[in-house]
Amino acid sequence: MNFKEIFDALQRFDEEYIPFPPFVVAVDAVKANIALFRETGIAHHLLLLGESGTGKSSLCRWIEQQYPRFKLPDRDVTPVLIVSVPPAATIASMASALLEKLGDPAAASGTVSAKTARVITLCRACRVEMILFDEAQHIHDRGKSATHYLVGDWLKSLIDQTGVPTVFLGLPRLEKLLQVNEQLRRRFSRRIRLALGQSDKDTIHAECLQLFRSLGSCLPLPLQCGSYGWDELGMRLYYASDGRVAYIKKLLATSLRVALETEINEIGPSLLEQAFTEEIWWEGLGKLNPFNPGFGFRRLDRGNEPFESGSFGNGRRSSLEPVC
Ligand SMILES: Nc1ncnc2c1ncn2[C@@H]1O[C@H](COP(=O)(O)OP(=O)(O)OP(=O)(O)O)[C@@H](O)[C@H]1O
Ligand SMILES: [Mg+2]
Repeated sequence: MNFKEIFDALQRFDEEYIPFPPFVVAVDAVKANIALFRETGIAHHLLLLGESGTGKSSLCRWIEQQYPRFKLPDRDVTPVLIVSVPPAATIASMASALLEKLGDPAAASGTVSAKTARVITLCRACRVEMILFDEAQHIHDRGKSATHYLVGDWLKSLIDQTGVPTVFLGLPRLEKLLQVNEQLRRRFSRRIRLALGQSDKDTIHAECLQLFRSLGSCLPLPLQCGSYGWDELGMRLYYASDGRVAYIKKLLATSLRVALETEINEIGPSLLEQAFTEEIWWEGLGKLNPFNPGFGFRRLDRGNEPFESGSFGNGRRSSLEPVC
């Protein structure tokens, strides 16, 4: 394969969406809330939590594709409005971000109350039926400055005034942020986690293996488990990815690139071992590499390890993980 063909294969792979279980649960819940609003005008709100790389922004893009913008003779219609909450959000920066997405040519100008009024008017004019706030952990509800302090209250009032369903997507700590604002907390009583490891029938490593195989089916090369067998490879994948789709995808994309460059015609443990060191953790060598035969079968969540405690999502123990 030449460089262009390798690039195209990787790009196609990157753009592929896989309906893995927590992603489907979350998408269905979002769609159900839109359908409920369309039928009854009732606005239910949703909190979607997941560690970095679990697919929150991808879910927003997927929803946007399902409910695309369109033009009428007199207006642009935006069924779903997706806004990324700016770091250390203030009311002014939040209002500007919303106005920008609504196509206001002067999104940054005006007083806070003028901007807020424009957000509400434009949401109605553009027939917005749902607002998704990505990176919602950036909401500084009880920050040090007065501008931070009121963002939560402002959002609550905005949600009430627009009257449309909303989704807050963010890192698990968002839950704690909402905890301090009772009124927001009440509105977001439904919470969904995007992490693998919530199934009653499958272990987390079986889910990782399923996701690996589904993603792998989009590649031009076959997957192999080598001497490990599929079950054990699933377990190793769990430790290598912490059960996050982003890392499983990285392992596959890097393995594919190396395989195509070196004319290897399958993706198996030795390529995955190399990909783990190249893409996930450069210190992950020997027994610290989940695809190495000497790997110690433990979470890589100690200090300076890739999934250091506090940064992983599901908190669930694999059934094969040793209890120390
Ligand atoms: N359903 C899916 N199918 C295939 N790939 C996916 C899916 N969901 C997410 N991904 C891939 O996982 C990677 C990370 O996804 P994404 O950026 O959405 O995560 P995130 O939760 O928003 O992370 P962060 O908190 O760091 O912003 C991307 O490469 C994306 O393509
Ligand atoms: Mg994101």
